[in-house]
Amino acid sequence: MLNELLEKLKEITSSATEALAAATTEADVENVKNKTIGRNGSLTALAPMMGKIAKEDKPVAGKAFNEAKTTIQNQLEEARERLADASGASAAEAIDVTLPGRKWRIGTKHPVNQTIDECCAIFRRMGFVVAAGPEIETVHNCFDALNAPADHPSRDPKDTFYFDDGRLLRTQTSTVQIRTMLANKPPIRIVSPGRCYRRDTPDATHGVHFHQIEGLYVDRNVSLADLKNTLEAFAEEFFGKGVTIRMRPHFFPFTEPSAECDFSCVMCGGKGCRVCKNSGWLEILGCGMVNPNVLRNVGINPDEWQGFAFGMGIERLTMLKHRIGDLRLFSDNDLRFLKQF
Ligand code: DAH
Repeated sequence: MLNELLEKLKEITSSATEALAAATTEADVENVKNKTIGRNGSLTALAPMMGKIAKEDKPVAGKAFNEAKTTIQNQLEEARERLADASGASAAEAIDVTLPGRKWRIGTKHPVNQTIDECCAIFRRMGFVVAAGPEIETVHNCFDALNAPADHPSRDPKDTFYFDDGRLLRTQTSTVQIRTMLANKPPIRIVSPGRCYRRDTPDATHGVHFHQIEGLYVDRNVSLADLKNTLEAFAEEFFGKGVTIRMRPHFFPFTEPSAECDFSCVMCGGKGCRVCKNSGWLEILGCGMVNPNVLRNVGINPDEWQGFAFGMGIERLTMLKHRIGDLRLFSDNDLRFLKQF
């Protein structure tokens, strides 16, 4: 009796295995289920035999019966999964040849980065090389070495972001002047574009982060005339022929004398308009002759070497060039804005 049962169980499982391997639809699988473990299935039909098995054989018979049932159940499940996967894959592979093609959308360079590239290219043609510096800086590089007095307002934590360890987010790219002069001997001719940070309340012309480009030229016999010529050449290259500059005395701790440099208004050509507040001039950058104290701070002898420096805001240049009215557009990441450049 036992042997007969075991034989039958074997037969039922192996024919179920075969039938499931050949199944191509879910209906095939359900059919195998009905024929084996279903209410009228062949395996279910064996149950009454169990009662007739000799007592001592019952454990073996019961175990074999349960194993056969589990095997079939597992194989049914596998077959269902296989067919479900296959139907998913064929749906994904189906190609609708009537659909219009998809256009590749190629990104554009951010307008701020375009300005940085353009400025660097102009200054490169004048013999400057591009230098880089970190955005996290020491108080020394950002203020002390740049000759900023101890009570300079920009040092105030209300204006500058400080870290707990005393370092800060640089407020100006002038820090790269110090790094460059510490690492190189004159002659030095660099420009350094990059991001700066100040604790400002954001509005149409102020952001907590913005970009500057710094310039530094240290050599023998450098004069204010060299600075003026360099800035004039830049103004014409960047904004176009006919743009002129003027310099007004100003104060920066790291330059002496210092000046603010205005460009003739690129909107109205100097006649006076809303953008230049009817003055005909646009305030563009700070500049001056490198303060001898700064040279001394980096171990350069000011009796032998002189230099000029300048720094300007990239966003401002970009806004004037493309007639953009609000600085916040640069960081909104709105593609409708960015795609125009
Ligand atoms: N660092 C100044 C600022 O952020 C700009 C500046 C002025 C840079 C004069 C210079 C300079 O190199 O000579 O306002």
